[in-house]
Amino acid sequence: PVIRREDYKPFPWLLPVTRLNFELGVETTRVTSTLSVERNPAGDASPTITLNGDGISALTIRIDGKQTSEWTMDGGNLLLPLPGASHEIEIVTEIDPSANSQLMGLYASNGMLCTQCEAEGFRRITFFPDRPDVLSTYTVRMTGSQDQFPVLLCNGNKSAEGVGENGTHWAEWHDPWPKPSYLFALVAGDLVVNRGSFTTMSGREVELAIYVRDGDLDRTGHAMASLIKSMKWDEETFGREYDLDVFNIVAVSDFNMGAMENKGLNVFNTKYVLADPDTATDGDFDGVEGVIAHEYFHNWSGNRITCRDWFQLSLKEGFTVLRDQLFSQDMQGEAVKRIEDVRILRSVQFPEDSGPLAHPIRPDSFREISNFYTSTVYNKGAEVIRMMRTMCGPEAFRKGTDLYFDRHDGEAATCEDFILAMEEGAGLDLTQFRLWYSQAGTPKVDIAMAHDGDTATLTVKQTVPPTADLADKLPMPIPLKIALFNRETGKHEGEHLIVLNAAEQTFEFGGFAQPPVLSVNRGFSAPISIERDVPDEDLVFLAAKDDDSFARYEAMQDLIVRHLTAASGGALDDSAREAARMAIAQAFGSILSDDALDDSMRGELVMLPGLTYLAEQQLIADPAAIHTEREGLKAWLGARFESELVLIHQRVSKLPFGLDSASRGARKIKTQVLVYLAAGNPELASKMAAAQYNAADNMTDRQGALMVLTGLGTAARTDKLIDFHRRYKGNELVVDKWFALQASSLHPHAIEHVKALAEHPDFTMRNPNRVRSLYMAFAANPQAFHAADGEGYKIIADLILALDPINPQTAARFVPSLGRWRRIEPARAAMMRAELERIAKSDSLSRDTFEQVTRSLG
Ligand code: ARG
Ligand code: ZN
Repeated sequence: PVIRREDYKPFPWLLPVTRLNFELGVETTRVTSTLSVERNPAGDASPTITLNGDGISALTIRIDGKQTSEWTMDGGNLLLPLPGASHEIEIVTEIDPSANSQLMGLYASNGMLCTQCEAEGFRRITFFPDRPDVLSTYTVRMTGSQDQFPVLLCNGNKSAEGVGENGTHWAEWHDPWPKPSYLFALVAGDLVVNRGSFTTMSGREVELAIYVRDGDLDRTGHAMASLIKSMKWDEETFGREYDLDVFNIVAVSDFNMGAMENKGLNVFNTKYVLADPDTATDGDFDGVEGVIAHEYFHNWSGNRITCRDWFQLSLKEGFTVLRDQLFSQDMQGEAVKRIEDVRILRSVQFPEDSGPLAHPIRPDSFREISNFYTSTVYNKGAEVIRMMRTMCGPEAFRKGTDLYFDRHDGEAATCEDFILAMEEGAGLDLTQFRLWYSQAGTPKVDIAMAHDGDTATLTVKQTVPPTADLADKLPMPIPLKIALFNRETGKHEGEHLIVLNAAEQTFEFGGFAQPPVLSVNRGFSAPISIERDVPDEDLVFLAAKDDDSFARYEAMQDLIVRHLTAASGGALDDSAREAARMAIAQAFGSILSDDALDDSMRGELVMLPGLTYLAEQQLIADPAAIHTEREGLKAWLGARFESELVLIHQRVSKLPFGLDSASRGARKIKTQVLVYLAAGNPELASKMAAAQYNAADNMTDRQGALMVLTGLGTAARTDKLIDFHRRYKGNELVVDKWFALQASSLHPHAIEHVKALAEHPDFTMRNPNRVRSLYMAFAANPQAFHAADGEGYKIIADLILALDPINPQTAARFVPSLGRWRRIEPARAAMMRAELERIAKSDSLSRDTFEQVTRSLG
């Protein structure tokens, strides 16, 4: 069935108090839940209560202490007659965590028990109104073997513990903050702990703890430091203080997503907790810091104020992503972080917005909510709130968020509530801006500049493209930061913020004797795509001189995108190609030699646009043609700048390892250099990469070198791949890298490698990280995935069919790669579609995969 936003109705019952008793076992866990329920004056009067259940059955049910058999099932849900105004319901269920391969609800991971309840996992544990607007206060008692589960954790604070019979012990936890069931968590296992503490702004002492498996403790320091920084930052930046005596984090190696913000007990994928320089790259360190912050920030944007229904998901996710982005900008430096965030948005969210799965950041309908934990809800959701901040400025924005937190604390709110708080608190008029919540599709903006006398006139046109859900769209408010550069001085007189609000508008700027150079969408002030009618020489100018880092990066990207789009569309002859490459080389050279640039930014500026983003620029893309042109350009630049690149590599290789930004920048550019040389001079690159690998005292250098070698056919490739696996045998996260490097490699036999890796003893379909390391990397490897014979599509379709019965949520995440077929050249499109049809024919598809496949077929 399809669930619709407009059908929202409050739940007819309130659940002020919930008591849960768990008798824990890996194969059998018995759950006794006691719910006190009262009629909700705001709900329909109903003589029954419907409690959600999924794959569970009730052993006994008592109402007001009396066992009853007067209940019925509706699908997985339990219907109980409730005649009075308030009752106590007691339900006993039994579950088998070891058989839970979906990793939703209560499941076993390496002998430990843990939970994942968002969005609808709690109903796999016990019968409950499993919806985010039913808030209850939980008291939880757990009993289990002392040997097997020495650590017993739950939400809130521990209120009592003791020893029982037959080697058991128990603990009772109480969470004073009313919460919806999706924020429930329980962990029981044999874990070791890194303890820390934090004193909040009002002087409350909070005990911090990070629980991991024995052996992982010395890789938790960065996570702890990140947590403390996050707590401090949220006090300073948003005025948000933590509200329990303890904050616990548990790392789990079998996890569907990144992490989960359960109240007081965050559960994390190990990938976002464990890091040290020998096993984690600089990017992994940033991932840990960002996700720790994200989950911590949810304590206010998500937990204290939660969502009324799942259509409001972006209320907590978009806002929390913005909060974690702003935090990381403050920790890492704004310029590079902004570029990284935009790169993710454009390579993942833009394709989503222009494909069959497009949806507004606040969707109107779904079959399976897990399918809507998307880049649109998260990343575009963050951009939409960022635009509000851009339009009102940081101080007014803070007034708006203060009002929001104050007004809705303890409630299940809506996106509209957030917008209203912003209008009142920040002084914004968001009447037209609300369209960003209801219209999907990336707006396209065309800008042309005319110059007459001393006036520069910008003519700006916007269109919002049709999507499957809506054909005719209205113009949206688009805040554009612009600057007009004087060609001679290379300077501008200050930035302007213009806010578009109509299909076509003009803006005049005086005081320009000569036509200025236009720098637009500075800082990526709006999540749109821009077509600017300017000559290549203006882009070369900006790539060398723009004082807005993002705009400078964008000028370089644009220059390359224009060229590669034209070239791969067959629109260039050899001399036109040569001319375009010369313009790119001019900008490229100025970036390599600019001493004022730090290496981290240099690394960003020389990065070629990714294939997905390039394909996105064409109505119908030929992935092979784009790939060939992109590799051709890379090789041409690599050969042309060989000596400069080698010198940079030598310069930065001399620096000692450090976690400061200069050292990190050095490592980034070091591998970038190898990437260009590998295309321009493979022999030389292979030698340099092998040397970088051998000399590496950190994972960033080692993985970078191995990545380059994996794409080459030289003997060093085999050597180093064997060495890497041997060196890190048993370290799951590093073995994931080993799989991913081979699956994403430029090697012409990548497909055969992937097939062989699927048979490798270290491969398993049961661990989502391992599945993703092999197959997500492969699906994102354009040349292998889009192999002309369709073999890549078949591999992914086979994977979806094999994984769906085991872990539907993870299986469904592979569908979008095939769902792009309408935008791919006809021969490949037919094969992609055929694979989707083959999946659709299976009669036992999960709701997750069924929804994605049907939407993709259209
Ligand atoms: N709320 C979590 C986060 O954003 C993600 C949980 C996703 N769970 C899911 N079943 N899709 O950090
Ligand atoms: Zn989140």
